[in-house]
Amino acid sequence: MSIPVVTVGDSRDDLVGGLERLHGPVSVVRRCSELAELLAACQSGLARAAVVAAGSEDLTASLVDRLSAVGVVVIALTDNPEETSRLQTIGVAAEAHGVEAAALAARISAAVARLSGPAGRAGPAAEGSPRGVHVGGSAGGSGPGHAADPGHAQRASGGHASAARGPTGKGRLIAVWGPAGAPGRTLVAANIAGELAAEGQSVLLVDADSYGASVAALLGLLDEAAGLAQACRLADQGLLDADALLRIATPVATKAGTFRVLTGITRADRWTELRAAALTLVLERAREVADVTVVDTGFCLEADEELSFDTGAPRRNAATLKSLELADTVFAVGTADSIGVPRLVRGLAELQAAVPHAAPRVVLNKVRAAAVGRSPERQLRAAWERYGPAATLSAFLPSDPAASDAALLSGTLLLESAPESELRRAIATLVCAPAQRNTKSIVFSSTARRLSKG
Ligand SMILES: Nc1ncnc2c1ncn2[C@@H]1O[C@H](COP(=O)(O)OP(=O)(O)O)[C@@H](O)[C@H]1O
Ligand SMILES: [Mg+2]
Repeated sequence: MSIPVVTVGDSRDDLVGGLERLHGPVSVVRRCSELAELLAACQSGLARAAVVAAGSEDLTASLVDRLSAVGVVVIALTDNPEETSRLQTIGVAAEAHGVEAAALAARISAAVARLSGPAGRAGPAAEGSPRGVHVGGSAGGSGPGHAADPGHAQRASGGHASAARGPTGKGRLIAVWGPAGAPGRTLVAANIAGELAAEGQSVLLVDADSYGASVAALLGLLDEAAGLAQACRLADQGLLDADALLRIATPVATKAGTFRVLTGITRADRWTELRAAALTLVLERAREVADVTVVDTGFCLEADEELSFDTGAPRRNAATLKSLELADTVFAVGTADSIGVPRLVRGLAELQAAVPHAAPRVVLNKVRAAAVGRSPERQLRAAWERYGPAATLSAFLPSDPAASDAALLSGTLLLESAPESELRRAIATLVCAPAQRNTKSIVFSSTARRLSKG
């Protein structure tokens, strides 16, 4: 069967005529005058491939993602090597303007076969995907699929050169999630980042909470720049290289080490700036620049597209869902009391449904006898058994209002404001190597200073 193709832009040579004269593998079903028309044509199910003969500069990762979501591959013509590499980054195969019609048709057929093949739209962990080449240490997560990211198949297989190039990131990705009710996601995420930096790792902390970004406030940063939104904008345009990411990410120096932060959106109504396709590229880049990327996520896991027929519309919870989907390790943080525990149990069921491979490590925070009775850990374990969720409890973090308030007041992490606190030690224990976390913190800091790259 002939592959239906739509085109946009006039090519110098009579490209459409050339394709039609082949009388074979492809047939041009519409010539569009602009990208918006091309998108509409593709969304009506008219085509399986789109050829952008001119004006490829207007293609973004989000647009390619929308086309990919309706089963359309994108091939663009350009003679500019920089544009070729930009296009490959956002999942567009590039061809030279003078390409023979037969070669272009073969290219289109191959790209369509890839998108609909096993490594395509619904394919989990496609070969050549970041997971395929990912060899960084994982703290226990299992391999995510990319079912919610149809554009990924195109980016992974990409243009002719990109299949060989592929993302090279080896860093690991930790997502910190928790249900509604401020269980302490941000406190845990930021302090995990600080502890890993103190251990000598290069760390990037990303605020992907599209409801209540608060990493900048927690760290006392006077940052109105919304670093993550900036990074997503560049990534969408295929322009986020490692240098650009490092330029955008604010360095945060602590006594024990330096890490970098992509601050969150400054107003909740800016959530449309955190789209799945762009965030995926940001996190792929993050794996290249940091040993560990820690993502502070929002609470809500509802998939907006289930509520709306517009599958191309931006999704309110895309940043959280995408981060959880891509993470090697997910921490699920809940409040250790009679409201927080059942809420976490329900949240874990939603997490299981939304991201089945997440295998979260469950952390109960703000553990205190006053809320659950004497021997709080035993009480909580017993309650957990009664609720019977599949996930087991992996850590208890004590309630320590004095330490967390002091940290908030001074805009610092626990390793600075309350280095000897149980809360700080318990968070370090979640992520740090045993040798490091058992060392007295004074020694720990000086060792870490020497080790720290920052
Ligand atoms: N273990 C703890 N003990 C005492 N207060 C805590 C603890 N963990 C978090 N908090 C406090 O709870 C509030 C909410 O924490 P935050 O990290 O912002 O939650 P979330 O990101 O889940 O909304 C903050 O005031 C924080 O200082
Ligand atoms: Mg938060």
